[in-house]
Amino acid sequence: MQSADDPLVTEVGVFVAFEGGEGSGKSTQSRLLSQWLESRGRRVLLTREPGGTEVGARLRSILLDPATGHLSPRTEALIYAADKAEHVDTVILPALADGSVVITDRYVDSTLAYQGAGRALHVNELESLARWATADLRPHLTVLLDVDPATGLSRAGEPDRIEGEPVEFHQRVRRHFLDLAATDPEHYVVLDANEAPELIHERVRAAVEPWLGQAREAVS
Ligand code: TMP
Repeated sequence: MQSADDPLVTEVGVFVAFEGGEGSGKSTQSRLLSQWLESRGRRVLLTREPGGTEVGARLRSILLDPATGHLSPRTEALIYAADKAEHVDTVILPALADGSVVITDRYVDSTLAYQGAGRALHVNELESLARWATADLRPHLTVLLDVDPATGLSRAGEPDRIEGEPVEFHQRVRRHFLDLAATDPEHYVVLDANEAPELIHERVRAAVEPWLGQAREAVS
């Protein structure tokens, strides 16, 4: 696992993931971070899961369209894993090798929280699946935007296949995200998603900044 004090040996870019429940403002915050980095002259790739590739966009429709109806939890986990494999191999790794800051709206923790805690699949098995799918590529930093599910869901429009799950499902997801963050404070920052977006953005910048200097040294 990478640390802010270690040289970046496997790639020269910086990998940042945003995670959180429904309506936590991940898309807004990842966009604000991307704009800020670009204004500082960094090359940025802003992407998301599921759906960060052409085939991923098709998988996203299957996963989120309420018309898909019930899927076996293992089927669902495997489709998310396929989306990740294509995303890492064809989008994320090339961008990191190119020195970009890669910002992804969701990554492996979403599988552990939604398919693990939410669907009640075995988290250790899911973790092996997701690590295999992503060639064990881990973010330098994960920004967890924490919000009460009732509040977050009330911000969403017409619910998709996952948003339509009962609030207890989303409460298990939230708990699991927080547990993951607590196990590895060096690589996580947990922010209260109820704060004003500009304030959250300032905190995101403060958390990302230490990783940027490290990458610049590695590039030069
Ligand atoms: P969103 O990116 O618009 O939030 O929608 C993605 C949905 O897919 C969201 O409900 C979380 C869910 N999801 C999983 O269940 N597992 C995963 O691995 C990922 C990436 C997302």
